Amino acid sequence: MTNKIKSSDLIKMKERGEKIACLTVYDAGFAKVLDNVGVDVLLVGDSLGMVLHGESDTLQVTVDDMVYHTKIAKKGIDRSLLVADMPSNSYSNVKQALKTAERLVEAGAEVVKLEGGSEVLEIITSIHSRGFLVCGHLGFQPQSIELYGGYKVQGKNQEDAERILNDAKALEQAGVLMIVLECIPQQLAEKISLAISIPTIGIGAGIHCDGQVLVLYDLIGVSGYIPRMACDFLSNNGSIKNAVSEYVRAVKAREFPTAEQSFN
Ligand code: KIV
Repeated sequence: MTNKIKSSDLIKMKERGEKIACLTVYDAGFAKVLDNVGVDVLLVGDSLGMVLHGESDTLQVTVDDMVYHTKIAKKGIDRSLLVADMPSNSYSNVKQALKTAERLVEAGAEVVKLEGGSEVLEIITSIHSRGFLVCGHLGFQPQSIELYGGYKVQGKNQEDAERILNDAKALEQAGVLMIVLECIPQQLAEKISLAISIPTIGIGAGIHCDGQVLVLYDLIGVSGYIPRMACDFLSNNGSIKNAVSEYVRAVKAREFPTAEQSFN
């Protein structure tokens, strides 16, 4: 096994200013390609509800779905750190959350990800105390899409921005390993990234995050459209392998995202 990425490596990467490249993955075939070209973190995202199942949101994804895709993605991985999403309604209370986290870790996840700030602190603390690594998810939270009334940038006014910043600090205190920041103004993402010592992984959150994540299918033009925060890396690079390599290079070289994929 070559240079297996450990959770402690992500903190060291933040400390030395090396950007963390992360992509979603749902199966062994793609996992192998992504792992080979040096994607640091692979996320079995509940975005699979949209890109694999053809749903309009992530709300129908089950724990069984996540366990299945985590198991098969794991088979393609040698080096990358594997994170799996806890789907909607699978962490409504501590007992249920612990069961979900346990199943995902048994399936091969090294880290479990869940959405939310202060309202999920007790859940996060319990999972962390059980010895599991946790990734947070702040800003736009796809599992709360009905609350937002659609895909909207979060943290645009001062009150919301302060709440997200305070949530990030609280998550760090609760022992979270890293935090995905989705669709927030790049200035807010920069402030958060400077205020906490754990890595921030941005999607639609600007260049100042400690790492970047994209939905794999957006990067290779399979989703049918390219969301504002994504970029088609395939058309200019000839193969999926080259497209993913170029994504990793651009993230590490701080060339992705540009202003075009960021919000103010
Ligand atoms: O489910 C997912 O793919 C995600 C990413 C958008 C970060 O949570």
